[in-house]
Amino acid sequence: MPPRSAARSLHRCQSCGHAEPKWLGRCPACSEWNSLVEEVGAGVRGLSAARAPTGARRPVAAADVALEENDARLACGIGELDRVLGGGLVAGSFVLIGGDPGIGKSTLLLQALAGLTRASRGGTVLYVSGEESVAQTAIRARRLGATPVGLLLHAETSLEQILGEADRLRPAVLAVDSIQTVHSEALDGIPGSVGQVRECAGRLMTWAKSTGTPVVLVGHVTKDGAIAGPKTLEHVVDVVLSFEGEGAHPYRILRALKNRFGATSEIGVFEMRQGGLVEVESPSALFLAERPVDAPGSVVVASADGVRPILVEVQALVAPAATGFGRRTAAGVDSNRVALLLAVLAERAGVNALAQDVFVNVAGGMKLAEPAIDLGIACAIASAEGRTPVRSGTAVFGEVGLAGEVRGVTLAEGRLGEARKLGFSRVIMPRQNASRLEAADSAGLEIIGVADLRAALRAVLV
Ligand SMILES: Nc1ncnc2c1ncn2[C@@H]1O[C@H](COP(=O)(O)OP(=O)(O)OP(=O)(O)O)[C@@H](O)[C@H]1O
Ligand SMILES: [Mg+2]
Repeated sequence: MPPRSAARSLHRCQSCGHAEPKWLGRCPACSEWNSLVEEVGAGVRGLSAARAPTGARRPVAAADVALEENDARLACGIGELDRVLGGGLVAGSFVLIGGDPGIGKSTLLLQALAGLTRASRGGTVLYVSGEESVAQTAIRARRLGATPVGLLLHAETSLEQILGEADRLRPAVLAVDSIQTVHSEALDGIPGSVGQVRECAGRLMTWAKSTGTPVVLVGHVTKDGAIAGPKTLEHVVDVVLSFEGEGAHPYRILRALKNRFGATSEIGVFEMRQGGLVEVESPSALFLAERPVDAPGSVVVASADGVRPILVEVQALVAPAATGFGRRTAAGVDSNRVALLLAVLAERAGVNALAQDVFVNVAGGMKLAEPAIDLGIACAIASAEGRTPVRSGTAVFGEVGLAGEVRGVTLAEGRLGEARKLGFSRVIMPRQNASRLEAADSAGLEIIGVADLRAALRAVLV
């Protein structure tokens, strides 16, 4: 390792741009606290030299750029992942996978890399782990059946060493697990610091673009779900994937938060098993499998996560308040939305559960964030409050407004198709959507278009 010297790096204030040779808690120029971030000094990189045109690369006409090589995608063979990526990894793309600790990021990556190794036909794929030893990774790879010839494991945290190996091996794909464990010898900061993460990600990106090799990074997330390190990390990468799930449930959802080469509305659903992550082809069937029959408070909602319709069960329980005032507890949906719907139910539909304890839960650990689930939540609460089950074979969707009106939502046809596929016979939906349906959309289904919450409850409850 070359000797490190503080003179090689400097600390720049993120507020005013002032540079200091040493880290200080407060910027002496603008007095901002904690604003100094380490970066490689001008002496190392030669800023003025970097800015001078070298003639190595010149602007070209958009129409003249050859596209064949950029269009080629390397598919890993895991359908749910390839779909979320937009058809596979694009040459030279820079991909970040984020997720909670222990959710299965390394598992997903290893399985994907095994597939990519096979797809590279005799090429190599380099998996660098800064968190686990080669032996640990190999044990996992064997358990997952992810040991094709050509998948190389490397335990390393020095960026310079990683890039050196990558240059030597020229793998078809380079993966680094995780970016927070990698450090550059050009900086003094500890691995995971803002300066280190930014510098290492920047140099890996330059390597990806200059060699045309896809680079996949794993990123830790902070307590509130954001990718740890500088926000700029999410800006420099081409694709940000988020791997989500509830620890206690085996289901995992892969979501593209950003994708320069495909739609961000796709999601992939997996189940974590002993042998690794298994694709779930019909998530609706899975989420509805344990649904109680004719139980008050249980409603099937035709939700659409991104562009993918998914039927899920929303459950509500209304119980006498344990304390002087009613508590609201929500899992899988926004508790503010539940509070709002309780008020609308009381004021506009004559269902008053305001003084009682109200619990709302989405079965299977799924998280629902779209407005079209409003009607399902409201129906579940009304069903629980009146101890009246929902008519069997019924699915609902629609947004509820403050006046108690049921508003139209997107993707109505897809939601109906999913309900039909899963054997549902009645769908309660916004009248505005129902009035625009083609005959084929509603074939085999009894469609009940409703304009307000009262009408919806009349149609939904037995
Ligand atoms: N022997 C095993 N059998 C079955 N499942 C296992 C086994 N070992 C690990 N798992 C599953 O894999 C999960 C951990 O996966 P993984 O290490 O890929 O997560 P990660 O997101 O990379 O975690 P970290 O943030 O620590 O890097 C565990 O929570 C567990 O569900
Ligand atoms: Mg891991």
